[in-house]
Amino acid sequence: FADDGYRLWLKYDRLTDATVRSGYARSAQFIAVSGSSPVLKSATNELQLGLQGLLGTTVPTLPSAGTRQGGIVLTVGVSGADANELNEEGYRIVKRQGNILVMGKTDVGVLYGTFALLRQLQTGQSVDAINLVSSPKVKLRMLNHWDNPNGTIERGYAGGSLWKWSELPETIDPRYKDYARANASLGINGTVVNNVNASARMLTGEYLQKVAALAGVMRPYGIKVYLSVYFAAPKTLGGLKTSDPLDPEVRKWWTDKTAEIHRYIPDFGGFLVKANSEGEPGPQDYGRTHVDGANMLAAAMKPFPGVVIWRAFVYKADPTGDRFKAAYEEFTPFDGQFDPKVIVQVKNGPIDFQPREPFSPLFGAMPKTPLGIEFQLTQEYLGFATHLVYEAPVFKECLESDTYAAGKGSTVARVIDGSLHGYSQTLMAGVANTGSDRNWTGNPLAQANWYAFGRIAWDHTLTSAAIADEWVNMTLTRQPQAVSHVRAMLLRSRDIYVDYNAPIGLSRPWTGVHFAPEPWQNKSPRPDWTAVYYHRADSVGLGFDRTATGSNALAQYRPEVRRQWENVDNCPLPYLLWFHHVPWTKQLSTGRTLWDELCTRFYTSADSVRWLQQEWTLAKPALDPVLYTDVAGRLATQHREAIWWRDAWVLYLQEFAKKPVPKPFKQPE
Ligand code: GCU
Repeated sequence: FADDGYRLWLKYDRLTDATVRSGYARSAQFIAVSGSSPVLKSATNELQLGLQGLLGTTVPTLPSAGTRQGGIVLTVGVSGADANELNEEGYRIVKRQGNILVMGKTDVGVLYGTFALLRQLQTGQSVDAINLVSSPKVKLRMLNHWDNPNGTIERGYAGGSLWKWSELPETIDPRYKDYARANASLGINGTVVNNVNASARMLTGEYLQKVAALAGVMRPYGIKVYLSVYFAAPKTLGGLKTSDPLDPEVRKWWTDKTAEIHRYIPDFGGFLVKANSEGEPGPQDYGRTHVDGANMLAAAMKPFPGVVIWRAFVYKADPTGDRFKAAYEEFTPFDGQFDPKVIVQVKNGPIDFQPREPFSPLFGAMPKTPLGIEFQLTQEYLGFATHLVYEAPVFKECLESDTYAAGKGSTVARVIDGSLHGYSQTLMAGVANTGSDRNWTGNPLAQANWYAFGRIAWDHTLTSAAIADEWVNMTLTRQPQAVSHVRAMLLRSRDIYVDYNAPIGLSRPWTGVHFAPEPWQNKSPRPDWTAVYYHRADSVGLGFDRTATGSNALAQYRPEVRRQWENVDNCPLPYLLWFHHVPWTKQLSTGRTLWDELCTRFYTSADSVRWLQQEWTLAKPALDPVLYTDVAGRLATQHREAIWWRDAWVLYLQEFAKKPVPKPFKQPE
């Protein structure tokens, strides 16, 4: 039967190589598990399901291995040398006394170890001398769903919401469990179920019951549920006269509400807050600060283990300002003033999930505040569910950037994992790309972005290529040539997309729904919601001067970082137009003028989509036919749209550059 993509990377199809299969079968004759916690039960069930599929045999479970050999033993509560290098959620897998031991300090560690073992089998690794030890580097690894109570998803491109609010709490869609399994297989341990543009309705008793039902499905998979909160809820829901965070009645309202939430969900994860951002209410409406707002919620959360995640995505309508600088300006004065329960969640870049951004300067500027990072899996600015963009390189490029906050080697990753400044609360969030589409993500290849996010949140040292290999092997095919074609597509896809959308450091050539090229867009109630605000094309050149002669946003970075970018003659090309207004005729490091370089990128990247199509065709014999056809159609659309982007940009910019399209490219008509 056709593969509809529902099973994601947890496919467990029967291994075709009989030798490999029998080798695994010899090591998996039984599963021994002592203890019966719900999480351990999830681990055992998953192992049974996986082995049943991969090997085609039903593997019995036993309460203990006794003197038996040739089985898998799940062990909670390790000590001595086995506990070395393990944190609370880590696992160790070793071959010992003829058995494969999957060990963890906690049952959730064993669950993660179980998924890791299955991954070994799915990707055809030998388990004869297996010896794996791994602990997550970041504590809170979570998805942020921008799902609304009416079933729509803000910036969702894979159907409606997964959560069927009208059916909950009585009806539990079996899909919730599969969602939990998929997340647990990656180590994702939190989910914010509703949109940051939050509806107060989520905090009503009616909805809390529904959320509690979801939490009940997530709990056996080690996943905690969080809620986005509407800051003005005391007024709109509680009937108070104000939502001022320093007002005693308001504080009491949140304290009571938080206690009420815990009656429904005792292990509630915490709050996520978008305040005073894009029209959302917040403490500034009452002359208060982000600290006042966040610390008020932290006080309400005090009796409980949960956290308060306060977003730093803020900017103001300021015609003379530079939106790039807004979050830094608003947040750095508060460094060290947030309650220990608060984590400030910062988008990877200073603007808004653009195809390529420099890292946010906040990462190098708040040493006394735990900062979490927020990536966007849903492809709001990356071609929705049509264009192929594998995002692992987006995550890695940011995490590997050096902030120099405490000297060389102060990477964003080390800020986020807490090792640089010694934070104990650490967080990586991804705005989910899941929806009600049967294959979860619309474009089947976009599943790789969910996968890559989870793997990197667990271990940011994994490479984009290694993650791509795992995902392709588990999800699409294990035929080596086909794997290498698809891997090549994934790894080049982001650069191809950037080069026809926003090359050399351009940003936001769109307005409206964030899909179509509109570099000419210059009308809006807010200047920073036009396209021309960002690219600044004129008769002299192109790009936003953020050096000392311009907005001086570069001053928000450490001198070492600034030096990499401040000189137009040696600023790396991916960031050039982010920081400089460059003359059309200026010769770049490639030997071409700016104009010729732009044209070269627009044309070669649009052509490269043809290459993506060819690679996909080469992999075809090893792919499921339905899935093949689905993606082939999307790639064909992508090719047409890449040309559309190319031509829109070239024709628009040509009005300023007043230059011909260089040979051998053809002038668009
Ligand atoms: C983007 C996006 C909005 C979203 C916002 C946010 O601007 O377009 O839909 O609400 O980010 O992250 O809060």
